[in-house]
Amino acid sequence: MSNDEILLELRDIKKTYRMGEVSFPVLHGISLSVKKGEFVSILGPSGSGKSTLMNIIGFLDKPDSGEYNLLGRAVSSLSEREMAKLRNETIGFIFQNFQLLPRLSSIDNVLLPLFYGKVPKKERLPRAKNELARVGLSEKTENLPKQLSGGQQQRVAIARALVTHPSLLLCDEPTGALDRNTGTQIMEIFKELNRDGMTIVMITHDRRIAAYASRTVHIIDGNLYSAEEYDAMMEKDIASVEGGNAHD
Ligand SMILES: Nc1ncnc2c1ncn2[C@@H]1O[C@H](COP(=O)(O)OP(=O)(O)O)[C@@H](O)[C@H]1O
Ligand SMILES: [Mg+2]
Repeated sequence: MSNDEILLELRDIKKTYRMGEVSFPVLHGISLSVKKGEFVSILGPSGSGKSTLMNIIGFLDKPDSGEYNLLGRAVSSLSEREMAKLRNETIGFIFQNFQLLPRLSSIDNVLLPLFYGKVPKKERLPRAKNELARVGLSEKTENLPKQLSGGQQQRVAIARALVTHPSLLLCDEPTGALDRNTGTQIMEIFKELNRDGMTIVMITHDRRIAAYASRTVHIIDGNLYSAEEYDAMMEKDIASVEGGNAHD
């Protein structure tokens, strides 16, 4: 039964936000499988449900219904504590605004996730240094975030995400706060990590950024479409416009 090629699988995930009497459906039944070693981008406009979906994939929020399996484990059956442990051990997060701790140096930001895990004390510092070296920041270990450029801050965040050796890198608009050139450099790092075997799921509204992934799926109004389904839909839309709106 088990297919160890699959890293994560979402089946018919639904989510509605409720505020008093008003309910606001955001995800309408999302199904997605990601294999180990894939680099998948989830591309969609603002308000389409991307961050809601990312929060569910990262167990920062729960769906109302549907199934979510990560590394063969049913996430809905886990306790809060088991979820936190699985999250810490398997998922590295990258956010648009880096989310570094402002009073900590680069090296201390990267060391932080190791305090929650089981990595022996002696291994922590060499491991953190190694991750900063990998993203080209060996010279900046003692700098505070405010003493770094945006691109350098995002590279510290990448080192922090990788230091626990996660199975999945989950990125929400990772270049959204960066200029085009710096964004390109960050995407080159992701591409190289993926070539070395890292599984990456990246959320973006930017087609150019999405194109770095090996597969793109589209999210529109809380529904997910494959690239083929999306292209067919677009062609149909264009044909109906070119057809002169005969039925209107
Ligand atoms: N906590 C919340 N409560 C109510 N509505 C929300 C909440 N979070 C997001 N929404 C709404 O859900 C929709 C999708 O939001 P989001 O997932 O953040 O989209 P995206 O990341 O694609 O811009 C938006 O219309 C947003 O206003
Ligand atoms: Mg968002």
